[in-house]
Amino acid sequence: MDKLLINGGNRLCGRIDISGAKNAALAILPATILTDDVCRIENIPDISDVSVMIKILAALGADVKYINKNTVEICAKNVRSFNVPYEMTKHCRSSYYFIGALLGRFSRAAVAMPGGCNFGGVRPIDQHIKGFELLGASVSIEENAIVNAVSDGLIGSPIYLDTVSVGATINIMLAAAKAKGLTVIENAAKEPHIVDLANFLNTMGADIRGAGTDVIKIRGVEKLKGCTYSIIPDQIEAGTYMVAVAATGGDVLINNVIPKHLESITAKLVECGVEVEEYDDSVLIKSDRRPNKCNIKTMPHPGFPTDMQPQMAVLLSVAKGTSIINEGIWDSRFRYVEQLVRMGASIKVDGKIAVIEGVEKLKGAPVKADDLRAGAAMIIAGLIATGTTEIENVVYIDRGYENVVEKLRAVGADIKRVKVTEQDSVSNVS
Ligand code: EPU
Repeated sequence: MDKLLINGGNRLCGRIDISGAKNAALAILPATILTDDVCRIENIPDISDVSVMIKILAALGADVKYINKNTVEICAKNVRSFNVPYEMTKHCRSSYYFIGALLGRFSRAAVAMPGGCNFGGVRPIDQHIKGFELLGASVSIEENAIVNAVSDGLIGSPIYLDTVSVGATINIMLAAAKAKGLTVIENAAKEPHIVDLANFLNTMGADIRGAGTDVIKIRGVEKLKGCTYSIIPDQIEAGTYMVAVAATGGDVLINNVIPKHLESITAKLVECGVEVEEYDDSVLIKSDRRPNKCNIKTMPHPGFPTDMQPQMAVLLSVAKGTSIINEGIWDSRFRYVEQLVRMGASIKVDGKIAVIEGVEKLKGAPVKADDLRAGAAMIIAGLIATGTTEIENVVYIDRGYENVVEKLRAVGADIKRVKVTEQDSVSNVS
């Protein structure tokens, strides 16, 4: 029930350290089930989606030991169950990676259909199922939406994905790492977290080549071993702060990033007139004037990420001129627009297209986070608006941003988290 309160108008200056990548961590955690040895995972983000995945591992019987809040050791030797019920999956969509991981370990998985961010449309898993079936599993979806997958031992196979899917690529990699023979995923997703999962599995002894291209070859191995691995920095967390600084004006070093992963975001910010200086593992963002308009089409990596679309819409809502955003991944990812319009933005949505006429200023208002990235967008809107913005549904933001309030306060934002009591009175907690 927490809320965020933001008094807008402050320039941001200083340095923000980026945490480990959510979407890499969510793929790597279930992969630890594929070995009996200890896996030590470093740079793991302290976010609620990760906590959900850790809880599932523990419930399945894995021994989980936090060394500190960003380092965890997992030993899945005592995992005996292949069942993940709805109470565990309902809070986190990536819980469906346990289908691939459990299939890889036991040739059997029964996992309830997950919850997760709802973009207003269906989020199909037909390509995941196609992959499991081609590997020799028989898959059924039972009455209470449990995906039941069983095989006599998975056998490698060519798998052509009909649509570029991050989740299907990851799930198939998890299932195929120990399958017999060669699996070739064609039309695979190329996101940085796919490469990170492949690197993690290869460090465990897997034989995976081509991750980061659209053809991934997985030669199954008999056994995987434990390892120590550090997760890559979060591309979208970095991009969110880059856009925040572009929008508020200021001068911030976004630290602990892989600048190559940020290229599509950097290119659009430069088009908007923002200065971006790249260093080995940081980018410096400088902005001191109203942004220029620009057009964006979201696409699979290396295209502009859909997970940065709502944040960019906020920047463009105060740009000079009219911008167009074309959402190329999700059917319905403009629900947050209603909130921005209440803050004074001028945005018209028609299907997967949003037309944004830049206004001079947004004004603070009570708004809500409709999903994780919509929540990030509301924070940026609050940072640039005049007056106070109150953001409800902070629970969505907690899913993917570690210490967002602390990180923003450290660079000069006036933002705090407040607890809402049952009587709806507000008391300060940080
Ligand atoms: N799709 C299908 N069939 C499938 C799978 C996907 O038609 O079997 C379609 C989807 O409906 C969508 C497109 O393919 O239109 C892409 O979906 P994808 O499978 O790539 O998405 P995902 O794996 O469910 C991940 C991220 C999302 C991010 C998308 C796209 C994780 C845990 N989630 O989702 O991240 O938006 O890729 O890049 O990695 C977020 O972090 O806020 C987030 C939502």
